[in-house]
Amino acid sequence: MMPVYQKAFIYIFVEIEYFFVFLQFIQSSKVSTNTLKNKVYIETYGCQMNLADSEIVASLLAKDSYTIEKDINQADFILINTCAIRDNAEQRIRKRLRELKALQRGRQWLKIGILGCMAERLKTQLMEEEDNVSFIVGPDAYRQLPQMLDHIKDDEKMAETLLSETETYDDIEPVRYDTNGITAYISIMRGCQNYCAYCVVPYTRGRERSRDPKTIVAEASNLVAKGYREVTLLGQNVNSYRWKNGESEIVGFPQLMAMVAEVSPLLRVRFATSHPKDLSDELLQVMAKYDNICKCIHLPVQSGSTRMLKLMNRHYTPEWYLDRIGAIRRYLPTCSITTDVIAGFCTETEEDHQATLDMFRKVRYDYAYMFKFSMRPNTYAAKHLQDDVPDEVKTRRLEEIIALQGQIALENNQKEIGNTYEVLIEGVSHRSDQQLFGRNSQNKVIVFERGDLQPGQYAKVKVLRCTSATLIGEVVGNK
Ligand code: 5AD
Ligand code: SF4
Repeated sequence: MMPVYQKAFIYIFVEIEYFFVFLQFIQSSKVSTNTLKNKVYIETYGCQMNLADSEIVASLLAKDSYTIEKDINQADFILINTCAIRDNAEQRIRKRLRELKALQRGRQWLKIGILGCMAERLKTQLMEEEDNVSFIVGPDAYRQLPQMLDHIKDDEKMAETLLSETETYDDIEPVRYDTNGITAYISIMRGCQNYCAYCVVPYTRGRERSRDPKTIVAEASNLVAKGYREVTLLGQNVNSYRWKNGESEIVGFPQLMAMVAEVSPLLRVRFATSHPKDLSDELLQVMAKYDNICKCIHLPVQSGSTRMLKLMNRHYTPEWYLDRIGAIRRYLPTCSITTDVIAGFCTETEEDHQATLDMFRKVRYDYAYMFKFSMRPNTYAAKHLQDDVPDEVKTRRLEEIIALQGQIALENNQKEIGNTYEVLIEGVSHRSDQQLFGRNSQNKVIVFERGDLQPGQYAKVKVLRCTSATLIGEVVGNK
């Protein structure tokens, strides 16, 4: 079983949120005492990319004289790695800051810093509005954190939010505090320049840049040596990964996937997220070639309406999207498909909404992250469009999408009954310590009786029953 200090808790708020990741970790190789004021507690909100960034921050601090603390009550510094994707993500951080005031009253030296997308978006304004925040650090400035903390001990306030065109942190080996010591994220690129009309990410994470493939492969190899069995390659749009080695050699995403898949047949490889406009047949061919590349593609659709997709600046039509779905089904007949969708974007009509429901009926996604549109400052939408769909209409449309998707997911899972899958065991089920859970290649969670099996092993599991979210099975053999 994984050590307690590596525990992470992931809560998914599908109703109106993307997902919120709360994590705590400790790296205890260094001696620390209270008098040194060097204990750092990190709390992470938002996407997987933030989770990976917190691991980089932990590594940068642990290299210096700082210790990552698991107990918030012992911390000298609290770093909150934030998300700005929707307004309610930011409101949650503000609420958390108010809660933390009580902790600061008992520990006057305790300093709080804001990292990540909200730090980048609001810069020093956030320190002016939230009087218990001492420092602000944007996603490309984490290397400066150790130095900043040294100054902040002396009651200085500091902000560093410069974005970089080159920073990839590729020389930093993340300190892993993964839930299970079995699955890990590897960041392969940073930033995004797609400028979808609703999205704040290009403004908070800067220009797109890819990381040296040698360092990615080295990281994957190290993880295998430590016993990890699955990596997820992360980027805002992994399909535009591109590394140029001198004049001639270009490594694109399909080549990178093949390089990582070849690290070890025991290592599963996943990736997130793909932009439909760039999903190539070449990638699907590479996925088909390697058994250890998981058969699961997250392909955010955002809307099923031609007009909405144009207004969102997505660079594809519903027909193009469905063509890509057709290609996935052709090359990878067993592949699961998941998506992101936004209800109630500017000017969305009932007809546009019906087109989205239609898209869901056609594709029959295995899972979907479903959101209500939230206007974000600085975006194309904020500058040029009206947030004119009333909130109750957005809510009703979102509920209709959620209900339809729930039905589809259940029917998809019912079709799995009787199938046998190779499952990577990730841990003990929350319901009973006599049960284990893992995922199949399609990323579906399967629960089964423990027997003699351990997390980290592969097992062959036959599906017996299901809910819309989980498969329940029995072990029919080891790998
Ligand atoms: N409002 C609602 N959802 C949004 N997303 C991005 N920006 C917004 C917004 N302003 C969603 C998209 C994206 C996912 C990460 O978050 O669906 O794919
Ligand atoms: Fe945002 Fe679009 Fe970039 Fe995704 S691709 S991060 S939705 S701008």
